[in-house]
Amino acid sequence: MIALALAIIWIGTSAATMPMPVAEVQAHRSRMIATQLLEQKIENALAIKSRRQAREGAKALTPMLVEEEKYWDRANVADALQFAQRNASTARRLEAEAGRGDLKAVSVSLDALRANCVACHGRHPETRMNVGR
Ligand code: HEC
Repeated sequence: MIALALAIIWIGTSAATMPMPVAEVQAHRSRMIATQLLEQKIENALAIKSRRQAREGAKALTPMLVEEEKYWDRANVADALQFAQRNASTARRLEAEAGRGDLKAVSVSLDALRANCVACHGRHPETRMNVGR
């Protein structure tokens, strides 16, 4: 009984997140769209074997995903934060691989990145956060 009561208190307090301002949520959505375009740019770079385009895409992608990591940290949704952390670290690795022109490695990292995008979307973290005004 005591354990149950403590568990309920723990869930209650950990779920009490600060509201995320609507402007921040909109900025996050814009970053998602930009991220998708960069992911497509890198995919296209692989198709045409353009090391330069892969490098440019990867360089722009990393800061977006680092911002997303900060966003999910502020939103305080634990599983989303884990996906976002993984995506930011995969982006850093992908950028390093693109920097040394290793398109084969970039291709592997891009697949890992995409699987992580899909996994996070499937969990619908946006339904589990406190959006303010
Ligand atoms: C940490 C979780 C998470 C990860 C990782 C993630 N997304 Fe998202 N994404 C979301 C959420 C949540 C939404 C829904 C928008 C919202 O928050 O209301 C979304 C929405 C989107 C949208 C639609 C945006 C719109 O409003 O039209 C696109 C496009 C998108 N994501 C692309 C990506 C791509 C590409 C990746 C991987 C590189 C990615 N996302 C990784 C959480 C994530």
